Amino acid sequence: MANSSRAPGRSRRLRAALVVSAAVGLLATAGAVVLPGSASAASTLGASAAERGRYFGTAVAVSRLNDSAYTTILNREFNQVTAENEMKIDALQPNQGQFNYGNADRLVQHARSQGMLVRGHTLAWHSQQPGWMQNMSGTTLRNAMLNHVTQVATHFRGQIEWWDVVNEAFADGGSGARRDSNLQRTGNDWIEAAFRAARQADPNADLCYNDYNIDNWSDAKTQAVYRMVQDFKSRGVPIDCVGLQSHFTGGSNYPSNYRTTLSSFAALGVDVHITELDIRNAPSDAYRNVVNDCLAVARCKGITVWGIRDSDSWRSSENPLLFNGSGQKKPAYDAVLAALNNGTTPPTGNPTTPPPTGNPTTPPPGGGCTATVTPGQVWGDRYNTSVTVSGASTWSVVVAITPPQRISSTWSGSPTWDSSGNVMTMRSNGSGNTFGFTTMMNGNSSARPQIRSCTAG
Ligand code: G3I
Repeated sequence: MANSSRAPGRSRRLRAALVVSAAVGLLATAGAVVLPGSASAASTLGASAAERGRYFGTAVAVSRLNDSAYTTILNREFNQVTAENEMKIDALQPNQGQFNYGNADRLVQHARSQGMLVRGHTLAWHSQQPGWMQNMSGTTLRNAMLNHVTQVATHFRGQIEWWDVVNEAFADGGSGARRDSNLQRTGNDWIEAAFRAARQADPNADLCYNDYNIDNWSDAKTQAVYRMVQDFKSRGVPIDCVGLQSHFTGGSNYPSNYRTTLSSFAALGVDVHITELDIRNAPSDAYRNVVNDCLAVARCKGITVWGIRDSDSWRSSENPLLFNGSGQKKPAYDAVLAALNNGTTPPTGNPTTPPPTGNPTTPPPGGGCTATVTPGQVWGDRYNTSVTVSGASTWSVVVAITPPQRISSTWSGSPTWDSSGNVMTMRSNGSGNTFGFTTMMNGNSSARPQIRSCTAG
């Protein structure tokens, strides 16, 4: 039996069961007014999802990062990104042995500067292969595919939370068969070989199988992917998650059994992700249902929409996204945000974390503003904190973390870090006066963030 174990890491910790602390104690935090209880309704998708222990992300086209209207929405609303095209095989290895990481690295750097998690998309796929790979077959192709997986996962090691290791390997229709492709013709074990290579190259990334039209529990394709994941789990093939792309169109609507699909995959012992959500004409009901279904399944880790504005969409004529071409919020946006804010909290499990005790320290000298800390939700492995600044509309707040605790994601601000990674300077970025962040405990469940200063301007 193959060994699927790996060192505990960032992703492994994120996958730990969600445990809600019954009570969050009063924190005493340097220089800050500290309020008990959880934050009030969040005003952005990422912040609201984070309060539910999830992410809310978007596909990003790197070429659009020069469009300030685009990046303003991206930085304000989302705490996870997927490269729409820049991490595909043809983009990363246009000629055999010649890797081109420029655009993908740019996206990763942007995401990290904003505290966003990155989903890698995708290591092995029948589509978007460079010409040299399309012309290969047999052992030569198998080895080239495995080399690509190894090289790319190694290059991005430590920066990718989840990899779509294999994308779209099953056929449409009622056959339940694998899709015919040059990769499939190298042997039925090509998928598990790709997962094993990915695990070896980046033991701390979560490894996902990603596909479309696996949303309806009754569909043969959904059942076929389910059986593959079940088989992989039983044989120790290293798979951690399934991505449901969820491109809902006229021909493939949001199915009423979607929640059953999510929970059925989760029951196999994998996380589920909604990875490429867009819905023809963006009906609020369908968007709301997707959010509620994800919130109802503890192992549903988050939702990624496939683009920001309708004009950014791969099927822009269907207006399937949450922002219109002018960057204004559509009714579906309001429905999603309300569903996230009203959503059920993650289910209570075995509490493993005592309420935080805090670290009282002396308030710092005034810098023209005040930072008020509100403790957020606490899980077994991590906790949220939000900070509200008063007295200034532009500001920077310095927050120190006690290692081995580590901030894993932030929202509604622009963070920079000192060289130790333990001190974060959060600057206002136009998304209001409240920012937030998630801290991984890494074995220290009592320490809490210290506000070192709040400086106006
Ligand atoms: O950038 C070039 C441009 O220079 C050139 O002039 C133009 C001419 O066709 O092509 C441009 O590249 C296009 C690229 O999108 C960027 O716009 C490619 O042709 C086009 O094939 C590519 O389409 C992408 C598609 O995947 C194929 O890889 C879409 O943007 C992208 O949204 C879509 O995403 C996929 C997921 O990866 C997997 N699931 C389905 C989803 C939707 O098809």
